[in-house]
Amino acid sequence: MCGIFGYLNYLVPKSRKYIVETLMDGLQRLEYRGYDSAGIAFDGGNEIPLSDSAKLPCLVVRQKGKVNDLRKAVDCLQGTNWDLEFETHAGIAHTRWATHGEPSAHNSHPQRSDENNEFVVVHNGIINNYKDLKSFLISKGYKFESETDTEVVVKLIKYLYEKHKAQGDKLTFQDLVELVIAQLEGAFSFLFKSIHFPGELAASRRGSPLLIGVKCESQLATNHIPIVFSKGAEAEHQKEFRGGLVQSPMIRPETNSEAEFHPLGANKKIEYFFASDASAVIEHTNQVIFLEDDDVAVVRDGCLTIHRIKRGDVNEPSHREIHELFLEIQQIMKGNYKYFMQKEIFEQPESVFNTMRGRVNFEKSQVVLGGLKDYIAEIRRCRRLIFIACGTSYHSAVATRQLLEELSELPVMVELASDFLDRNTPVFRDDVCVFISQSGETADTILALRYCKQRGALIVGITNTVGSSISRESHCGIHINAGPEIGVASTKAYTSQFLSLVMFALVMSEDSLSKKQRREEIISALKDLPNQIKKVLELDDTILELSKELYTEKSLLIMGRGFNYATCLEGALKVKELTYMHSEGILAGELKHGPLAMVDPTMPIVMVLMDDPVKLKCLNAYQQVAARGGNPIMICNENDDVGELTSKTIKIPKTVDCLQGILSVIPMQLLSFHIAVLRGYDVDCPRNLAKSVTVV
Ligand code: F6R
Repeated sequence: MCGIFGYLNYLVPKSRKYIVETLMDGLQRLEYRGYDSAGIAFDGGNEIPLSDSAKLPCLVVRQKGKVNDLRKAVDCLQGTNWDLEFETHAGIAHTRWATHGEPSAHNSHPQRSDENNEFVVVHNGIINNYKDLKSFLISKGYKFESETDTEVVVKLIKYLYEKHKAQGDKLTFQDLVELVIAQLEGAFSFLFKSIHFPGELAASRRGSPLLIGVKCESQLATNHIPIVFSKGAEAEHQKEFRGGLVQSPMIRPETNSEAEFHPLGANKKIEYFFASDASAVIEHTNQVIFLEDDDVAVVRDGCLTIHRIKRGDVNEPSHREIHELFLEIQQIMKGNYKYFMQKEIFEQPESVFNTMRGRVNFEKSQVVLGGLKDYIAEIRRCRRLIFIACGTSYHSAVATRQLLEELSELPVMVELASDFLDRNTPVFRDDVCVFISQSGETADTILALRYCKQRGALIVGITNTVGSSISRESHCGIHINAGPEIGVASTKAYTSQFLSLVMFALVMSEDSLSKKQRREEIISALKDLPNQIKKVLELDDTILELSKELYTEKSLLIMGRGFNYATCLEGALKVKELTYMHSEGILAGELKHGPLAMVDPTMPIVMVLMDDPVKLKCLNAYQQVAARGGNPIMICNENDDVGELTSKTIKIPKTVDCLQGILSVIPMQLLSFHIAVLRGYDVDCPRNLAKSVTVV
């Protein structure tokens, strides 16, 4: 959902061209989060004013379409001195996935306070109480120019600035942002820029991710930033605008001025990069600070301070760590591939290997999950294991439920996060709730996590993103180590989530003698998995040929059962999101209860029919389809006689039943990829979608 990026150089002279390109490149890296429209704000004017009181105008450029369209719009700006050097400058940028208001230049961000762009803001998230705020601001004479919820935020900051100025209060940028966020309900991450606070950036988040990269020539003087708690501010931060009525006056919060500036940037040359995720900062620095909900971070005179309105419980940390990211720039580049999705499909031999690295000991038939080992005893004693996720991540839980039940001997529930919340599902203190999320930022999943945490359940997070909200809010967990996934359609994260859950099941059963043989069989099969994936990937040309037969069709049914049912669901999701064809994953056992009515000689069908315990039942389904003139493409095992039943086969290596889904899903990833390309669609940016859904 929306990507936000900010760049601030302090005492590091940079040309306007460099600054704008840095903002554009940051956006390009975040484009997978939304690509309806984009915009930037930077300092205009063609000379740097000599006095402090003279202010540079703020230039805002916004464009419907992708970041490249914005680049073109910026290139067309007439009369701009691109070589003008700024010793200190603050710029912000945004790439949008529309929630309120259609994609258009005026609904793009930065949103502005007025036609002079006195305050500008970029936002990721949703402001639930924007209507109340809007009515209030309209009553104060503010005129709105967009349909976005974000515009109220920037008008509100201007209103507060004017109001306090008229009262003779001299508020800082941080004061203003604190006052603004105290009025907001919903989810957000923001970056604010203002002509009244030149060379400053202010940021805040609640529910949507935001991190700050720090780049400094000299050694950083500290590995953490102390938090400044605003004193006595809580009582004053009452809702002024609820129902559009003024209920109480607001008083400026006091801050602890001793701790105001930390030593990181004092008089040092320094650059800051604000971003929705690490992929946008990694080419500049690997030193990052992850902001927490309700942090207000401000850079002023090169110094970064992090403020909080109130201190929660005594355990609340009094500082934010500066983390070192272990991410290589190559990991977020396309390399020799045309699409990120294609690269990520072909990376799977390595990504599954990395998921197992240091965890599976093949000699000893042992699995160790460092992030869980202190909790395993407690997990084994639980009442139920509840797996909660969305989309592809949910399918990884469907794929492994049978094995989790078999090895843990516990009741296992698999839940879609949004539905789980809608039902107010009962959760107990002795439940273990496992949240699976590639991004670690999916709003539905985070809300379900908090719901379960409040009810006292143990929270296990399974994510691909270090420092993400889910990994930070979980008690323990597994990092799937698949490497950054940029393609909007999830591929390598799915196989690594699947594998992580298999490892979890193995760890759950390690003290069970009766399961020893089964465990050893699975662990030994894990060893061959990367090579077997390579063999499946060699079928790419065969799959391309089959795609050519399918790409003009309107619909595709995908059938299977048992361990491979999840492949049908996941395959159908890939087909839908990439090719915009109708597609359904059908449990073969349910065929005769309704879906069989759709089958005739013209209906395109894929059957996943593996040499496993449900093979005979699957064959029955095949016969039912064949008897109605259906001629499915069959994904089956090499050397299995079922392959003789049809000429259209995708023959994949055989592995142990519970791992077969890792291999059987790859042909579906490739099939949907090729159909989408043949249809002329951009597989990395499917229409209407965005990676990381941070709104509910
Ligand atoms: C589909 C896809 C989505 C995500 C879902 C959850 O290809 O990527 O269905 O799986 O939005 O996202 P995460 O895993 O980030 O929580």
